[in-house]
Amino acid sequence: MLVSRSYLMSMQTITSTLTFARPDDWHLHLRDGADMAAVLPHTARQFARAIVMPNLKPPITTTEQAQAYAQRIRAAVPAGLDFTPLMTLYLTDNLPPEEIRRAKDSGGVYAVKLYPAGATTNSDFGVTDLRRCYKTLEMMQTLDLPFLVHGEVTDSAVDIFDREAVFIEKVLIPLRADFPALRVVFEHITTKHAADYVREAEGRIGATITPHHLLYNRNAIFTGGIRPHYYCLPVLKRESHRQALIAAATSGNPRFFLGTDSAPHARGAKEAACGCAGCYVALHALELYAEAFEAANALDKFEAFTSFHGPDFYGLPRNTGTVTLRREDWQVPAQLEFGDSQIVPLRAGETLRWKMIAP
Ligand code: DOR
Ligand code: ZN
Repeated sequence: MLVSRSYLMSMQTITSTLTFARPDDWHLHLRDGADMAAVLPHTARQFARAIVMPNLKPPITTTEQAQAYAQRIRAAVPAGLDFTPLMTLYLTDNLPPEEIRRAKDSGGVYAVKLYPAGATTNSDFGVTDLRRCYKTLEMMQTLDLPFLVHGEVTDSAVDIFDREAVFIEKVLIPLRADFPALRVVFEHITTKHAADYVREAEGRIGATITPHHLLYNRNAIFTGGIRPHYYCLPVLKRESHRQALIAAATSGNPRFFLGTDSAPHARGAKEAACGCAGCYVALHALELYAEAFEAANALDKFEAFTSFHGPDFYGLPRNTGTVTLRREDWQVPAQLEFGDSQIVPLRAGETLRWKMIAP
């Protein structure tokens, strides 16, 4: 990674640029149709590849659907940008093991996603009990297709802030004991419990961390009033957990890597009596991550987290191109076009200190 500093005459101003290997987004929601066409250019500008979540309506549960969805995504990539979608299947109680073989044979499906039923947006078709999926999980283990887990229990008796910690004990530890060779990504971790588990667990496990969980604690949802654009799932946690995530992301440990969980929802669906979960960060993900790493004085660990650990975990080649961020103040737009509605990006109207240079 190149870090440049040019000192402006006698002023103490420092202009810096960060040039690093082109990164990938290992957890992304693109939606479909006009919505997808509206958000895809943001991701394609910042990232070479992305693991695309399958929680469409209806969900992507077959290889054929995944291939058709990939085709629609590729067709929507703006001219001049180079972007490859990495597709996933949505695990249901009855996804047959043969579908895993088809997925693996296709070469175009990179993982299977667990949504516990009822955990989040479009999770109604999700898994009610993982024991129903054991034959399918066995096939995934045999064929080495990674398992991406939304790590929250859905029991309404469990406090929403504890759902990730309870998931580790009640679901993840037993699952990994039964499938010790299954490659698992603990998605969008939000707690010290998860960071500690991933660091210390045996076997093949990784974790993605979002920019918003690195930058904010749960106070952000309630500062001066209720702020729906800071509401996502798993929900932001208290400051001690954010600190633990920062420590994990900046540790240089290859188990932790970038996954934005950028999740577009129309403004009206967020600013509502029952608002949807999801933060929109695809526009400025790298700038947000850079801010978090800089605040932790860890820009030297930035490139490995953004660009190396993810492809290494998935067994894919690292990208050859580079991207550059420059220290430059710019204002995040108040809103972005999204079909016949708008999206409000995270930090809308506020100033960011890093800016990605074209493309
Ligand atoms: O906040 C979230 N939004 N969390 C998820 O798990 C799903 C996502 C979405 O699809 O909107
Ligand atoms: Zn997600």
